[in-house]
Amino acid sequence: MKNIVIAIDGFSSCGKSTMAKALARNIGYLYFDSGAMYRAVALYCMQNNMIQEGNIDIKALRSKISEIEITFQADPETKNSITFLNGVNVEHEIRSLEVSRFVSQVAAIDFVRTEMVDRQREMGKAKGIVMDGRDIGTTVFPQAEMKVFVTASAEVRAQRRYDELTARGDKANFQEILENVLQRDHIDQTREVSPLKKADDALLLDNSHMTREEQMEWLIEEFNKLTKEC
Ligand code: DC
Repeated sequence: MKNIVIAIDGFSSCGKSTMAKALARNIGYLYFDSGAMYRAVALYCMQNNMIQEGNIDIKALRSKISEIEITFQADPETKNSITFLNGVNVEHEIRSLEVSRFVSQVAAIDFVRTEMVDRQREMGKAKGIVMDGRDIGTTVFPQAEMKVFVTASAEVRAQRRYDELTARGDKANFQEILENVLQRDHIDQTREVSPLKKADDALLLDNSHMTREEQMEWLIEEFNKLTKEC
């Protein structure tokens, strides 16, 4: 059976990463979290005083972008992917609400996207990968053999994010999270470069009322159908 590229795009906090990770594990593919790359760049800006009064110092970031090294390693115990920024494990930090507040701004910068897309294409060369993000099926891998566009209502997504943050011991405020989700949707959909949109040939998955098991069953069924055809 031929290895393929699976592109999973969709709104923030609709469980894409969890789903993509589980799918990759099930079918023996590598998983890449493209959002983690934009989050790592946002964290880099925060750590290097490149954010003043809520605005990113574009000039400073442009001069450093090629030096920002982002790598992934599998956790030896859980096998989950861990994000490293210039050699430091930042997996926990990049999921904070602070990073979430800035990441859409960072991801809307054209040279940041060009750099990340190039790196993502490099990762996909060997095929046999699942990559999730916002523009994977439209821009990064427009020829991906399997494309899925995931969505869920904003309230369901905010609740999931709230549960995730409280489960790991962070303080969380539902209303604040909902506002962040809506704001990110707006920025992601209206930005000039690679706005979030469903590729014409992507399968639509609304998981508002689906369990993880139901989702996985659906994905595997679609994967089997497609790989039989290739
Ligand atoms: O999936 P996530 O919430 O970790 O993504 C973080 C941010 O990065 C989000 O605001 C959208 C952006 N992003 C993007 O623009 N393109 C991608 N391929 C992945 C994420």
